[in-house]
Amino acid sequence: MKVVSIVGARPQFVKLGPIARAFRDRGFEHKIVHTGQHYDPLLSDVFFKDLGIGKPDYHLGVGSGSHGAQTGQMLAAIEPVLETENPDWVLVYGDTNSTVAGALAAVKIHLPVAHLEAGLRSFNRRMPEEHNRVLTDHAADLCLAPTEVAMGHLASEGLAERSRLVGDVMTDVCFATRDAVAANPVELPAAFDLDEPYLLATIHRAENTDDTERLRKILSSLQDLSVPVLLLAHPRLVAIAEQQGISLAGGQLKHCEPLAYPQMVQAVKQAVGVVTDSGGLQKEAFLLQTPCTTLRTETEWTETLEDGWNILDPTISIVNSVAVRPRPSGPQGQPYGDGNAAHHVCEALLA
Ligand code: UD1
Repeated sequence: MKVVSIVGARPQFVKLGPIARAFRDRGFEHKIVHTGQHYDPLLSDVFFKDLGIGKPDYHLGVGSGSHGAQTGQMLAAIEPVLETENPDWVLVYGDTNSTVAGALAAVKIHLPVAHLEAGLRSFNRRMPEEHNRVLTDHAADLCLAPTEVAMGHLASEGLAERSRLVGDVMTDVCFATRDAVAANPVELPAAFDLDEPYLLATIHRAENTDDTERLRKILSSLQDLSVPVLLLAHPRLVAIAEQQGISLAGGQLKHCEPLAYPQMVQAVKQAVGVVTDSGGLQKEAFLLQTPCTTLRTETEWTETLEDGWNILDPTISIVNSVAVRPRPSGPQGQPYGDGNAAHHVCEALLA
């Protein structure tokens, strides 16, 4: 079995970690293509190193750009790699521009495509990720769904026959890393040297960063919270804040660089709460049993809303009263699988 994985952005490297390990265990031939969408070492290289992935076989060096230019450059650069490698499966991950470019490049030359994390929907057509995931699911030959809810979305779009429930590979990597850092704690940046409880925050979605008034409102709410807030600043946020002359600090708010994956897991586990617009982080907070407040109008990970583990604040009006709250006391269940999703992916590809 030969598989080519196409990745390019931070959350895809996290998902690639458990997949690369499972492919190694099964003796699959695995080639990794990095589109170059994320190129800062803190968004890219550290994940390959910490998750034991090894260097990508191809680095396409596409970099940043407008959606069309970035996606188009990736499409053109991926095609010759796939022609050379001619794998049994092309595996694409999640919902970024690298995902849709990989899927499109493969189907154009009749290579079978599997989509990992298929079937997620926000039903918000303003989000670039929503187009990416819908188009990729419909192009794919095999939709690998993380949850029953995702399976339901795929069925309602006529894709049931080519869909398989495999669980969520982020559970695999999150639980393994949680156990590793519990045994051997990692060092966190100096900003974390606090004697008091803290909140962890990330803001990077276009709908929050690109609307200056909304961004100011978010940051001023974070400044006013009752405990220190550590904002892990994505380069998109840093660039926009600089451009608009907006400060990422003040009041309770401090900022530092994005964290590597083991640091992130430890920091979430130790936080009293998370405030975010990231899909992956909402779920990591849930898996690590830290209450989360999400600054978006909707979430693809609706299971996290059960029992108030995650609360949506679309208008930035309740974050001050709910960000610090006790953990829900009821049992969580396992909506994101049992930590063996990567092996279920291998079975689905072999079948
Ligand atoms: C992308 C994904 C988003 C995902 C996020 C995870 C799309 C449409 N969006 O958003 O779904 O949640 O990754 O982080 O694919 N930049 C750097 N260094 C980098 C990468 C980006 O400075 O290594 C800056 C550039 O100014 C760039 C901007 O961030 O223009 C946005 O990067 P881009 O990859 O287009 O989107 P993300 O916001 O990272």
